[in-house]
Amino acid sequence: MSKSTISIFGLGHVGLTFAVCLAHRGFQIIGYDIDEEKLQCIMSGKAPFYEANLDELLAAVIRMKRIQLTNNPQDAVSNSSITFVTVDTPIKPNGSVDLSSLAKALQAIGQGLRRKNNWHLVVIRSTVPPGTCLKVIKVLEEYSGKRAGADFGLCFNPEFLREGNAIEDIMNPDRIVIGEYDSMSGEALEEFYKQFHGEKLPLIIRTSLTNAEIIKYANNAFLAMKISFINMIANLCEKLPGADITEVAKGIGLDRRIGLSFLNAGVGWGGSCFLKDLKALIYVAKENGLDLPLVEATISINDEQPLKLIELARKLLGTLENKRIAVLGLAFKPGTDDMRNAPSIKIINKLLDEKARVVVYDPRALHNARKIFGDKIEYAVSSIQCIQGADCALIVTEWPEFKELKPEHFIKNMRTPCVIDGRRIYDPKEFEGKIKFAAIGLNQLKHE
Ligand code: UDX
Repeated sequence: MSKSTISIFGLGHVGLTFAVCLAHRGFQIIGYDIDEEKLQCIMSGKAPFYEANLDELLAAVIRMKRIQLTNNPQDAVSNSSITFVTVDTPIKPNGSVDLSSLAKALQAIGQGLRRKNNWHLVVIRSTVPPGTCLKVIKVLEEYSGKRAGADFGLCFNPEFLREGNAIEDIMNPDRIVIGEYDSMSGEALEEFYKQFHGEKLPLIIRTSLTNAEIIKYANNAFLAMKISFINMIANLCEKLPGADITEVAKGIGLDRRIGLSFLNAGVGWGGSCFLKDLKALIYVAKENGLDLPLVEATISINDEQPLKLIELARKLLGTLENKRIAVLGLAFKPGTDDMRNAPSIKIINKLLDEKARVVVYDPRALHNARKIFGDKIEYAVSSIQCIQGADCALIVTEWPEFKELKPEHFIKNMRTPCVIDGRRIYDPKEFEGKIKFAAIGLNQLKHE
């Protein structure tokens, strides 16, 4: 069966990675974005942002002529049978979601639908507050002059991509969630995914539009809650003689009802999605007269968590004034240069407040750190250069190269060898007795 032509509105992280994966598996793609510069960059075979393996795949599908880009949204709709909407839906300061990009895309799609004679499927993949898709139907009907169900279909199909793992997450998702306006829409999207995944079709869940919208938010809230939960227990472990969160997390994570993933204690979660989606969930609940105390606690625990590292530093060093502190890791997680909501930002700001001299290193994110901190801090080009002459080293992101560092490296290069492990990458037994060492979720009494 020949594969259909798919149009994709919005070529950011979600849209471009999806477009490239579809093209790689034989679909013809028409990509649309309002940003001309972005279109040109993509056409030259280079993604406008870093994502593992994306540039290679993009260059290959461009060579195979599987991706066309256009600045004419109506044409994109006319010449395809399914349109995925992957525009940005950022958060406003009051916690509500800014749906202006979605509104613009829907207007253009509606106008494109007006010109079409055959049934067309519109799939919203941007994260939107529950209830949005029911409003989308009306907007599309208004701009197209056509009827949902009869002339076009609508699905909400959330993505669950992790930055740095997006290609793998698209190619092999745990499940596919399809929220559908009617069964014809759901069936068309299920058929599309059957073509995309072939023999390795993941479990597909078909449900209402609103359920699928809630699933996306609740999914992120649950993951963030798991991390905040383990960080809360980690903070308790630090107070109790002989306690160590890594062993506690293993002990509970092996309960199959709980699971080991997302139980790594540390300086807290960051990134572009969790905080935005949790705040939006709280906002939607408030609009409906409900509080979500568990989600609120998830955020407030996380707000405090980066500062736990500073508390540990103070315990080992006393005052931080004029101490040279090496910060190893700036990105919100390894494998990315992204510093949005990164715990490193709070940690560095606090160190500066305490008048410490801060030197930082990250294998990918230094350029982003420069934009935030300018000349308030020093930038090193390697982990060894970063720790040289330092009074304390803070592990903030668990990059693999930091795991290679041994007590001897710290002893040889630091002024006073002292490590505070904010991501639990080191075995305390290897460090204790050799240098000053502390870690999130590790009781100090045992390891001093
Ligand atoms: C997340 C969701 O995983 C993804 O499904 C959603 O679509 C977007 O948000 P991402 O932000 O890329 O993805 O990062 P993720 O790998 O989930 O990590 C989020 C944060 O949690 C990172 O700061 C990470 O360091 C932290 N984390 C994760 C922990 O502190 N402990 C853990 O056990 C796991």
